Amino acid sequence: MQPDISTLALRSFRYPQDADALAKLDTSFTTERIYRPVYGALSFQLREERVDPPLYKRYPLEVENPAERVVWDYAVIAEEAGETVGFLAAQYTEWNRRVILWHLYVAPSHRRKGVGAKLLEAVEAYARSVRARCLWLETQNINYPAIQFYQRAGFAFCGFDSSLYDQSELEQEEIALFFARPIH
Ligand SMILES: CC(C)(COP(=O)(O)OP(=O)(O)OC[C@H]1O[C@@H](n2cnc3c(N)ncnc32)[C@H](O)[C@@H]1OP(=O)(O)O)[C@@H](O)C(=O)NCCC(=O)NCCS
Repeated sequence: MQPDISTLALRSFRYPQDADALAKLDTSFTTERIYRPVYGALSFQLREERVDPPLYKRYPLEVENPAERVVWDYAVIAEEAGETVGFLAAQYTEWNRRVILWHLYVAPSHRRKGVGAKLLEAVEAYARSVRARCLWLETQNINYPAIQFYQRAGFAFCGFDSSLYDQSELEQEEIALFFARPIH
């Protein structure tokens, strides 16, 4: 049965009250497609490619780590019938008036229902309230589903970093991709 999100509500994340529920939120994704980087001397392209078997990744979310939480200027939980089904955390950096999306996860059972879009609407309102000029985020070339989501939400590809991650710590090659959306 499809989950109902008719009583979906967003509210501020509270620590430590919400820590256990957040730690249980499944931050993973599985994908049959990725973007393979193709490099030229001064150019860079992303080519869509199938992967078989499908690729799996789980994002770390260290709720108990104060150094992690200190950058959460804005943190919101999406709840459906008392269950935590989504989370977004963001930071406002004043020097460049950007809101950085550090975390955005929706429980697998509640994906493709508009929960992620609602969390983006909420952070957009926050960004406007602090007079930010854009939302900005980092994702990876292997997170094909999230890239579809961000593009659909109006984010534009604004950069990459092929040396950001220590590849020896990763199960598959990953590069960082950056996306931004202006605040109007
Ligand atoms: C990315 C994520 C947050 C999207 O949340 P969501 O609640 O499923 O997204 P929505 O339902 O609001 O999607 C809005 C639109 O985005 C697009 N979209 C979302 N997920 C998609 C997917 N897997 N494949 C293709 N398009 C997708 C669709 O156009 C969708 O509209 P539609 O369902 O009417 O076609 C969710 O998939 C997730 O938690 N993924 C795992 C964690 C993750 O990767 N986080 C991002 C880290 S950078």
